[in-house]
Amino acid sequence: MTSIPDNFIENLSSRIDIVDLISRYITLKKAGTRYKGKCPFHDDNDPSFTVNSDKGFWYCFGCSTGGDAISFIRKQEGLDFVEAVKFIADIYGIPVPETGKSESSNRVLYDINQAAKIMFHKFLSSGMEGRLFRKYLTERGFNPETIKAFEVGASPESWDFIKDGLSNFKRDDMVRAGVLINNKEKDSIYDRFRYRLIIPIIDNLGRVAGFGGRIMKGDGPKYINSPESDIFKKSNILFGLSLAKESCRESGDLIVMEGYTDVMMCWQSGLKNSCAVMGTALTEDHIPVLKRFARRVILLFDGDKAGVKATVKSVSAMVDSGLKVLVAKIGKGNDPASLAHESGADKIKSIIENAISGDDWLISMFAKPVSNKPLQDKMKMLANAARFINKHESEPMRDELIEKATIQFKVPASAIIEIMRNLKENKGKASNGNVARMVSNIEKAERNFLMSAMNYPDTFGELKELLDQDDFDVPIHKLAFKVMTGIE
Ligand code: UTP
Ligand code: MN
Repeated sequence: MTSIPDNFIENLSSRIDIVDLISRYITLKKAGTRYKGKCPFHDDNDPSFTVNSDKGFWYCFGCSTGGDAISFIRKQEGLDFVEAVKFIADIYGIPVPETGKSESSNRVLYDINQAAKIMFHKFLSSGMEGRLFRKYLTERGFNPETIKAFEVGASPESWDFIKDGLSNFKRDDMVRAGVLINNKEKDSIYDRFRYRLIIPIIDNLGRVAGFGGRIMKGDGPKYINSPESDIFKKSNILFGLSLAKESCRESGDLIVMEGYTDVMMCWQSGLKNSCAVMGTALTEDHIPVLKRFARRVILLFDGDKAGVKATVKSVSAMVDSGLKVLVAKIGKGNDPASLAHESGADKIKSIIENAISGDDWLISMFAKPVSNKPLQDKMKMLANAARFINKHESEPMRDELIEKATIQFKVPASAIIEIMRNLKENKGKASNGNVARMVSNIEKAERNFLMSAMNYPDTFGELKELLDQDDFDVPIHKLAFKVMTGIE
């Protein structure tokens, strides 16, 4: 956490001109002692938005909202309080005094990434060496406008392009930012991104949080990303959000995809409100960011097993977030990038129109492989469904989901309610520090599941894709599952 001294915030309003600030967003006309314009926060036909320059306040008679410069920016840019203060200070070049340790030391990390981004982009855009990368992008169907909008770059086959190029920064800071690697054993410091296509990861304040570097030749992972740091956390950053937020705020919809190229290709085809989780899943840390811009989140992950797994995790993480979560089905073997490229944005829009509620999708997903199996085989998946239903605070919502699970799993509601109750009790016991382990229905279910999995390998083949060891409560069952699936 960072904090800004109170007196700075109080003084900020007096140091800036609210009319100038708001005029950056809407046209204001002088009317007597005030200024008037069309409200940016509701569909305004008459100019019902007024600004009082002397007092530093705005008010809209149409939608009855108002406030000061900070609240205007919070609403307009979707920022929290501290971010809005910094945003305004930044516009007017007012240095922000910071009492928190992290922000000032983070500042240099953003500066390094910003400088590196410019170097990578220049390298891609000019000269012979960059030509190969440009050719690659063209062949994949990316046009210059997209490359520019996402500020795509490239790094040469060099160990010190950035190390020497950004010589005005401290090496330690460059290692912290992740553009350099410090190999302590070999006592050498060198560039992290070598001969890779570079995709800058911009956070929702427009700062360069990190990079994704795509392989072009040779061996190695497809993408190397900036390491996790104070400014780059995959669990709360969404690639592409900075470009998507405008269109997202208009429609209220944000489409969440898996990868960099999905977002870039969709953007190019005219679908501007998409972002990517970068090969992971949505987490609870994403919720505040998502809520600033969207009312509905549409999950559009790849149509393969990894995509399904990420969707399961994402839907679970969004329970009770206050956001409407939908799951769009893209079809086996497809991804948004190729679909947008081959069939255009309309195709993706039609898939999104057919999206279904995340809750419904998850329950049917759990039930699908087991609905016609004996109860014993169903138990583990029922437990997963029950655990998911339990996460919902709202009772009517839980009742609705129990009913859905009843239909999907073909079991009586009482069975599901019983499992839900057992799960809750066990959880309570554990958190009360009671070590006496209860032989619960769940424990039996886990055991039955593992036993039948051994007897029916075909069924298990389908099921194991939907599970991981954390789905098992009993440690020995985690281990058994690990052994059976060959997880390291
Ligand atoms: P994909 O393999 O689908 O990559 O991984 P992509 O972005 O669609 O790239 P192309 O179109 O094949 O070139 C989806 C996302 O997972 C993360 C990246 O964020 C990627 O965009 N990922 C993938 C990694 O971080 N590392 C990897 O090695 C692979
Ligand atoms: Mn992909």
